[in-house]
Amino acid sequence: MARYLKKYWLIALLGALFMVGEVYVDLYQPRMMERIVNQGILGLGNNGVPDLSLVTSTGLRMILVVILGGTCGVMCGVLTNVFGQNLGNEVRKDCFERIMHFSFEQTDDFSAGSLITRITGDVTQVQNLAMQFTRGMVRCLMFLVGGSIALLSLDLSFKKVIMIAVPLIILEVGFIIWKTNPLFVLLQKRLDRVNSVIQENIAGVRVVKAFVQEKRETDRFNEANDALVQTQLRVLILISWMRPVMNIILNLATVAIIRIGADQVRAGLMAPGTIMAAVTYISQILNGMMMLAMIFQTLSRGAVSWKRLKEVLDTAPALKDGGKEAPEECGAVRFDHVNFHYPGNDEPVLKDISLDIRPGEFFAVIGSTGCGKSSLVQLIPRFYDASEGHVLVDGMDVKDYDLTVLRERISYVLQKSELFSTTIRDNILLSRPDASEEDVIRAAKTAQAHDFIMRQPQGYDTPVTEQGMSLSGGQRQRTAIARALLKNAKIFIFDDATSALDLKTEAALREELNRAMPDATIIMIAQRISSIMHADRIAVMDAGEIVGLGTHEELMNTCRVYRDIYESQLKGGVTYD
Ligand SMILES: Nc1ncnc2c1ncn2[C@@H]1O[C@H](COP(=O)(O)OP(=O)(O)OP(=O)(O)O)[C@@H](O)[C@H]1O
Ligand SMILES: [Mg+2]
Repeated sequence: MARYLKKYWLIALLGALFMVGEVYVDLYQPRMMERIVNQGILGLGNNGVPDLSLVTSTGLRMILVVILGGTCGVMCGVLTNVFGQNLGNEVRKDCFERIMHFSFEQTDDFSAGSLITRITGDVTQVQNLAMQFTRGMVRCLMFLVGGSIALLSLDLSFKKVIMIAVPLIILEVGFIIWKTNPLFVLLQKRLDRVNSVIQENIAGVRVVKAFVQEKRETDRFNEANDALVQTQLRVLILISWMRPVMNIILNLATVAIIRIGADQVRAGLMAPGTIMAAVTYISQILNGMMMLAMIFQTLSRGAVSWKRLKEVLDTAPALKDGGKEAPEECGAVRFDHVNFHYPGNDEPVLKDISLDIRPGEFFAVIGSTGCGKSSLVQLIPRFYDASEGHVLVDGMDVKDYDLTVLRERISYVLQKSELFSTTIRDNILLSRPDASEEDVIRAAKTAQAHDFIMRQPQGYDTPVTEQGMSLSGGQRQRTAIARALLKNAKIFIFDDATSALDLKTEAALREELNRAMPDATIIMIAQRISSIMHADRIAVMDAGEIVGLGTHEELMNTCRVYRDIYESQLKGGVTYD
């Protein structure tokens, strides 16, 4: 927090100073009122002769002073808002940047819903805290201290009221804060849950509808939402006690002031106007206390939120840059006795994998679903780190690379094509934003995407809806392939990236790939043997192990698993040419 405060402390301080001005005016006003009543109207000190010119002049001064106070109030409001918004903006930006550097595992640990709540709701709470603290703290402390001094300066006999009312209010506020504080932690957690359910369901709305699960999902949402409302209600019910109890204390204190004042007036020790001023002061003091209570409430809520934001800000990226100087780029990939299991899950996913993929090679990986193909290639750009053994790119361990340098050498088409809600062109340009129009078109043509893009209403400028849902599965894949091809890389990984293409298009794409990038290393994962039978070498995976390695012909002769896959696909009626 200190880091953020350091940047904006001057604005906060100026805001607080303007608040001092505003409160000073508020505290000064009852004094003028007392003067108008005692001297102007009752004519005390002037043998009972009212002084109307004093009423007018003091009244005018009061108006001027109020305008001054109002100006201070506006300035204070502007400055504290600037302070709060900027502070929140910085925290939000830093959190987002931090999240962008999280490993997959770290993002999963927090959950997307919780990260969204933190970066929106929690930041707002911290913003409120910062603003209320600068504005309110000054205000209520001045009301408390200044009001007490002003009240006692009217007459010391009022001190009994302060001595009883203030501790009573402290007791009340303390009790409510003690009760609500743990609820704030729960409240944010419940908000996380609601956001997670919303996020999952909006992203997966097609699945929900396809399986007619609207009712079940609505129930799930209602459950999360009810839990949130319940907690919120518990907080609000507790807080709703605050003002009425405070008002009772305030009214009792006012009665006590009038009673004490009346005794003093009867004894000739006080003028009636002074009682009026005293009543204003006591209500200012007790209102100050009430505001303090509100601030403490925002403080405890803001502190919970700040803790949650700190968890994000203090989470160091799990993957550390190796920072060694990268060797010359050639496109070689090596797995050296690699074992791998996902973090938090001891089940081995890859077992003692050793592979040497040569520069320029068309290397294919095939195997049944869940055998570890995606897990294997994810280790190359360090989406995860190998649990044991080494993964080498261009001869150097991936852990020794600067992450950016490593990932710049690799172009990747994920198993699930992820597109963003922008134009088709911008989706392709994501891999190389400075690419020329010709390069974009060439990549799209190689990916067999150009024709369908040209048929779209605005060609390359056609907007894509969120997650690319306005395109067909095959169109999405081709756009994702075009994006990958645009990147100047030596290593291309296609993780089951052609599954939605028909055999003819896939064959055309392969030919284009060979022609356009003859010296790039291509690692292609596929389910269909026809997609990879022309590869230089094929690795056959089964239950996390490599059970065969060689050309199609070699594997047909030596690898039973490969033969089984071949035969099962042949029987499925697929023909291979
Ligand atoms: N993020 C993850 N956390 C934990 N386990 C995972 C994770 N991703 C995959 N697994 C598990 O690792 C194993 C291998 O998964 P992987 O995605 O590598 O399979 P695959 O060969 O690519 O399958 P497919 O052909 O269906 O894409 C599976 O048993 C899967 O359940
Ligand atoms: Mg996979």
